[in-house]
Amino acid sequence: MEDLKKKAAEEAGKQIKDGMIVGIGTGSTVKHLIEYLAQTKPRIVAIPTSKDTEEKLKQAGIKIGNINELIPDIAIDGADEVDPQKNLTKGGGGALTREKVIDYLAKKFIVIVDEDKIVQQLGEKHPLPVEVLPFAYERVRKELEEKFERVVKRDFVTDNGNYILDCHGKIKEPEKLELMLNNIPGEVENGLFTRNVSEVIVGTKEGIKRL
Ligand code: A5P
Repeated sequence: MEDLKKKAAEEAGKQIKDGMIVGIGTGSTVKHLIEYLAQTKPRIVAIPTSKDTEEKLKQAGIKIGNINELIPDIAIDGADEVDPQKNLTKGGGGALTREKVIDYLAKKFIVIVDEDKIVQQLGEKHPLPVEVLPFAYERVRKELEEKFERVVKRDFVTDNGNYILDCHGKIKEPEKLELMLNNIPGEVENGLFTRNVSEVIVGTKEGIKRL
């Protein structure tokens, strides 16, 4: 799968041009994109979606920018699952909140995945991560347990100092659910991405495919 992730990452990387503001996602697929940037050295300003990505970009010699001052021309990020309507789940690496801020603001949002990430219905293979305030996480968990088959707290603290609750079960009506979850007091953000996806680049054994 690593070579399929790499192919998708490099295909997306070709869209990065000198002078661009580029949102850079998080995860093992994006790692290949950062390696591509380290080799091609475009003159860009990158806005990282996590501390891990920021560190990798700095090591690659890429200039770092701030989302409060700049709007990305393009954002490139991975996903845990992609459905036929280009809805995504993200947050396997716990970076979903900063990812959503940057990916939703970007003028163009490109998703890079290998073919294993394509599903008929979200929730088939991976749980949906929900970032919650530590202060109220048991309260949020109780609400989530009414909506999902199983909710598991991850042994992990996000870059924002919060917890992640992984919600298991197939997802119906992702757009509605994204908003509904954002309405629970104490929920910070959830890993459903149902807006702004411009293109999904899929690395497959037969070559690059696009949704
Ligand atoms: C990080 O929190 C996630 O949203 C990742 O973008 C997503 O989990 C995909 O990661 P991989 O490229 O490692 O599969």
